[in-house]
Amino acid sequence: MWCSRKTVILLALVSIPIQYTVMKIFIDFYVHKCLFPNFLNCGLGQDVKSFDWMCDEYPYFSCNSSRKTNILILATPRSGSSFFGQLFNQHSDVFYLFEPLYHVQIILMPHATPRRCAVEHRLMLEASRDLLRSLYNCDFYFLESYIMPRPANHTTDKLFRRGASKALCSMPVCDAFSPSDGNIEEGDCVRKCASLNLTLATESCREKQHVAIKTVRIPELSDLKALIKDPRLNLKVIQLVRDPCGILSSRIETFHDTYCLWQIWRDTGRKPYNLDVTYLTTMCTDFLNSVSTGLSRPPWLHGWYMLVRYEDLARNPLQKSKEVYKFLGLSMERNVVDWIHNNTEGNNNESAVHKYGTLRDSAANAESWRLNLSNDMVNYTQTVCKHILDELGYKAVNSPEDLKNMSLSLTEDKTLIPFL
Ligand SMILES: *[C@@H]1O[C@H](CO)[C@@H](O)[C@H](O)[C@H]1NC(C)=O
Ligand SMILES: *[C@@H]1O[C@H](CO)[C@@H](O)[C@H](O)[C@H]1NC(C)=O
Ligand SMILES: *[C@@H]1O[C@H](CO)[C@@H](O)[C@H](O)[C@H]1NC(C)=O
Ligand SMILES: *[C@@H]1O[C@H](CO)[C@@H](O)[C@H](O)[C@H]1NC(C)=O
Ligand SMILES: *[C@@H]1O[C@H](CO)[C@@H](O)[C@H](O)[C@H]1NC(C)=O
Ligand SMILES: *[C@@H]1O[C@H](CO)[C@@H](O)[C@H](O)[C@H]1NC(C)=O
Ligand SMILES: *[C@@H]1O[C@H](CO)[C@@H](O)[C@H](O)[C@H]1NC(C)=O
Ligand SMILES: *[C@@H]1O[C@H](CO)[C@@H](O)[C@H](O)[C@H]1NC(C)=O
Repeated sequence: MWCSRKTVILLALVSIPIQYTVMKIFIDFYVHKCLFPNFLNCGLGQDVKSFDWMCDEYPYFSCNSSRKTNILILATPRSGSSFFGQLFNQHSDVFYLFEPLYHVQIILMPHATPRRCAVEHRLMLEASRDLLRSLYNCDFYFLESYIMPRPANHTTDKLFRRGASKALCSMPVCDAFSPSDGNIEEGDCVRKCASLNLTLATESCREKQHVAIKTVRIPELSDLKALIKDPRLNLKVIQLVRDPCGILSSRIETFHDTYCLWQIWRDTGRKPYNLDVTYLTTMCTDFLNSVSTGLSRPPWLHGWYMLVRYEDLARNPLQKSKEVYKFLGLSMERNVVDWIHNNTEGNNNESAVHKYGTLRDSAANAESWRLNLSNDMVNYTQTVCKHILDELGYKAVNSPEDLKNMSLSLTEDKTLIPFL
């Protein structure tokens, strides 16, 4: 299996310039001894109060404490996070990045499977945290070691979904559009903008008050503890959740290869004997752990955490967005309000609504999976994911009739106030 010790070592030695913390994991893991007691309190899971050592280790870290709030959108694939991310992408004072951790994953865990190997998993988390830290400091050069082929002269065409980030498609990074052009579509950005100059990206980022990063590549909230506790980052986390059935249904539509047996189940009503249910169990376990951490309100999350259900966002996007902005302490701009108006149910201008890919799966159809998944699939999912359904206020259906009766909502009213 590819998860062997040898592979892991090779992977790390060969594929990337090894970074300090990544190396440290190996040392930690194999030697079980902390060789750098002065840098860290030994053990990466422990609370690290001071990051001053990093300023020496990584000269490009900004060691100037700043008051700006950084934002992390913690989600899981197909939970509506592209839509949610737009609420930040549209804000003129937010520098928004769409899934930068993709690059870490591609290099460290190219064969992502739900069965995780502990060492690789830890490696990826450490590398992810390093990258997040540098991006929140507007350092794009750090990202270069994860981009293949390696950028020359600090420019690249290979940044994942560059077009999903408004700031990377507009001045000063790209001069192909003028502000009067309105919304820039992702495809247009990629076609018309020249190669991404990472020096300009850094400059553009520094001009904005806030950096918002969306990721589906951090499994659990507690994986972010060290970042949340770092006062210099001033990082607020918004966790986006969705009914697991909705996530499953959307993944079947989107990831045909990975979920093809699930599709067979959906379309034939028969569960294939060789179905790998770990995709579902892992999703719900991570989800449960993550959400339980948040809802148990540990002191380190105080003031830094908010949970948002996608269904609430879909039901009342403007209201929910206002709550989120309030939690972040940002003002809700006209632009954001307009975007919500242009791209949700309230607006029946078809041509406006269909411009955005995010809309395929958003507001109007947060519960449309009920018409699409078979009864026993729903039953199975609701059984496996029972705890997380209860925790988040999603109702399990009792009969096939209730499942298809769309006038019965499966999302209980639940007040999820931010942890302030
Ligand atoms: C730290 O911030 C202050 C005020 O914003 C600025 O004057 C100073 O040059 C900064 N120092 C460094 C090392 O960036
Ligand atoms: C990088 O810049 C140098 C100096 O401007 C130039 O000679 C070289 O061709 C550039 N490399 C690439 C790959 O563009
Ligand atoms: C990228 O932008 C910087 C800052 O404007 C500039 O100095 C540099 O020459 C640009 N790089 C390339 C390859 O054009
Ligand atoms: C909203 O739609 C109008 C009309 O299509 C367009 O002019 C405007 O730029 C859009 N605004 C946003 C923020 O999407
Ligand atoms: C609908 O949206 C399109 C494209 O954004 C715009 O050109 C058109 O004027 C809008 N129509 C109405 C009735 O708002
Ligand atoms: C679910 O949706 C897909 C595509 O939208 C469709 O092909 C399929 O037949 C639907 N399945 C059910 C059971 O409605
Ligand atoms: C779900 O499955 C369980 C066990 O297979 C069965 O006892 C139960 O009646 C089913 N519930 C529904 C709503 O179909
Ligand atoms: C759907 O649910 C509503 C609300 O509980 C109920 O009044 C209605 O009779 C149900 N419709 C069907 C077809 O079961």
